[in-house]
Parts: sequence; structure tokens; C-alpha cells
Amino acid sequence: MNDLQAPPLQRMNGEHPWELLQRWRGEAVIVNYDREADAWIFIAIHSSLLGPAAGGTRMKCYDDPAAALADALDLAEAMTYKYAAANFPRGGAKAVIAISPAFNQANRAAFLRRYGKLIRQLGGLFRTGPDVGTSSDDMDVIAETGAPYIHALTPKAGGKGSSSPPTALGVFYAMEATAKFLFGDASLGGRRVLVQGAGGVGGNLIGRLLDAGAKVIFSDENEVAIKHFRDELGVEFVSPESAFDAPCDIFSPCALGGVLNRETIARLRCRAVVGAANRQLAEPGDLQRLEDRGVLYAPDFVVNVGGAMAITGMESMGWSEAEAKEHLGGIRDTLQRVYELARTEKLSTDAAARRIADENLERARQG
Ligand code: PHE
Repeated sequence: MNDLQAPPLQRMNGEHPWELLQRWRGEAVIVNYDREADAWIFIAIHSSLLGPAAGGTRMKCYDDPAAALADALDLAEAMTYKYAAANFPRGGAKAVIAISPAFNQANRAAFLRRYGKLIRQLGGLFRTGPDVGTSSDDMDVIAETGAPYIHALTPKAGGKGSSSPPTALGVFYAMEATAKFLFGDASLGGRRVLVQGAGGVGGNLIGRLLDAGAKVIFSDENEVAIKHFRDELGVEFVSPESAFDAPCDIFSPCALGGVLNRETIARLRCRAVVGAANRQLAEPGDLQRLEDRGVLYAPDFVVNVGGAMAITGMESMGWSEAEAKEHLGGIRDTLQRVYELARTEKLSTDAAARRIADENLERARQG
């Protein structure tokens, strides 16, 4: 591609990027088109009110760059709410890298180093860790040029490794709080839990649930994961198409977002949704749909803060593993407050969680 032919930003759902940006209530967006890799980098800084803005780096193919920008804006806002609900001293941000289907993995490291350089130039405006499509190994490479603003490097590079295990532990605690609220007993022993997506977070969660004596069902598309959990560990498997129809106590979305919509919510046969995926609901109306079906929804941004919180705490705030675990326990308390506030104020659980987050943001704004 020569210099004159960089692809123009296109319209997404009829919405021009300028309109997306105008509607967005964040602080700034850094845009970089990497010509060599034909990749768009969008770093959305939503808020630095509670502390330096931080969020994962998502790297995948998009139909057009505007869709990647829209994702960055939404996910950065979700990070603000995630940290704020937990009252953790970080602001919300996200990087979305839209690669082309022809992205050459042989040039991945060189590209990531250019990305790291950009982060270093931002001088602390943005800090990042792994997300969908990036790993701790990638963070090692990004940190070569982007340190000290890169989190979750591998232990051999001096980091605390993957954020998946602490994220899964936080989800586990959130499930306990949910069981306590619904059944009066926090124990997950004997409860049927469906884990949708047995990847980094979902796979770790399955192990914890089995240890706790829960009856686990999982669904995944990945052959390797199916082989491991179904064939080697003997975990009950349902195909991705029928995951929504399986009777269970807790349905746990641990893959990509947007899985709960008009069609899937009508099929759910669970008492609660408690999962790790970011932005699980396809649209705001889905909150009412869940409520109409008698399904208790644990707001995703309350449930899935564990990885970002534990890794950042251990790497930047001197927390020990034990202290990180204790802080993750706070997810249980926050979720309990959310459920109680929703009940007494007749709010959706999402609105209740936002109110708690907004109060924490407001307190920071005041002083
Ligand atoms: N993917 C993490 C999240 O969405 C982002 C993250 C991981 C941030 C590790 C910092 C450290 O919460």
C-alpha cells in the first residue's frame, strides 16, 4: 500500500467516527495507523480521575477501523467503571488494535515494539496489559520499548504473568456472593454452573469450581479445550449452540461480549448470570429482559476486575499474593452491596453498580 492509499475511516452502523467521538464522554483518543503492518491502533483514554488510565490491549481483525474505534471507546468506559466500582486507584482506558486478515505473524514482534514505543511516548498517560488477542509473552515484547507502562509480563521478564487466574478467582468470589444472595448459602458445592468459554479465564474458573464441588458444564469451540476438559477431566460438555438452553444455577459468559441478547435471554434456564466477559449484554434493554425472566445479573464490570486489580496491585503497589487475594475478596462485598441496593432502590443491578461507581468517581472529583 503506498502513502496515498491509506484506507479512509468508514461508517459503522451509519455512524461516522466523528459522531462516535462526539457522543463519547472520555478524555482523549490516540490514533496511529501503522503502515508497515497495515494495522490501526486506537488508544482510548476514558478517565484519569481515580488514577493513571489503564486497560488491556485487544488485538484482532475488524470489518472496518470504525468498528475497532467503537470497541475501544466502549471498552475504555467499561474499564473506568470496573476500577471505580472496586474503588481502585486507576482510570479507564483501552487499546484496540485492528489488524488485517493478512497480518504477518512473523512481523508481530517488530510491530509490538513500535506499539510499545508509542506507549512510552505517551509518558504514563496510558498503561496496559493483556486482553483478547494478546498474551503475557506479547507484553514482554511491548515492554522492550514501552516499559515501565506495561503490566502482566511473564515471570521470566519480571512480571506477575497472566491476568487470567486472578480474574477467574474474582469471578469465583462473585459467584459465591450471588449464591449467598439467592440461596442464603455462599457455598458453590452441588450448584450447577455453566461456563461458556474454557479459555484462559474460563478454564481456570472450571478448575476452581470443580475443587469447590460444583457441577460444572462447559461449552467451547476450540478442539484443544474440548479435549482437555471433556475427554481428560471428564467435565460435562454442551455444544456452543445449545449452551443457552442448558438448565443450571449460574450461567457464566467467559468468552467474547454481546452474548446476551433478545434471542439468547429467552432461552436461558438459569437463576443468575455471573461471568468474566467484558460487555456481556448486547443492548441496554437486555437488563429488563433478564429481570423479566427472573435471572439475577451480576454486572460484568464488577465481576471481572480481578485480573487488572491483582496484577496492577502486585506490580505497582507492592501487594503480596496474599494481599492481592484479600483485595479480590472485596468483589464479594461490592457485589453484595450492588444486589442490596438494587433490591431496596428497585434499580437494575447494572444501575446499582453504576451508582456505586459514580459515587466513588464523584468523591474523587470533589477532592
Ligand atoms: N484485560 C484486562 C481487563 O479487561 C486488562 C488488564 C490486565 C489491565 C492486566 C491491567 C493489567 O480487565
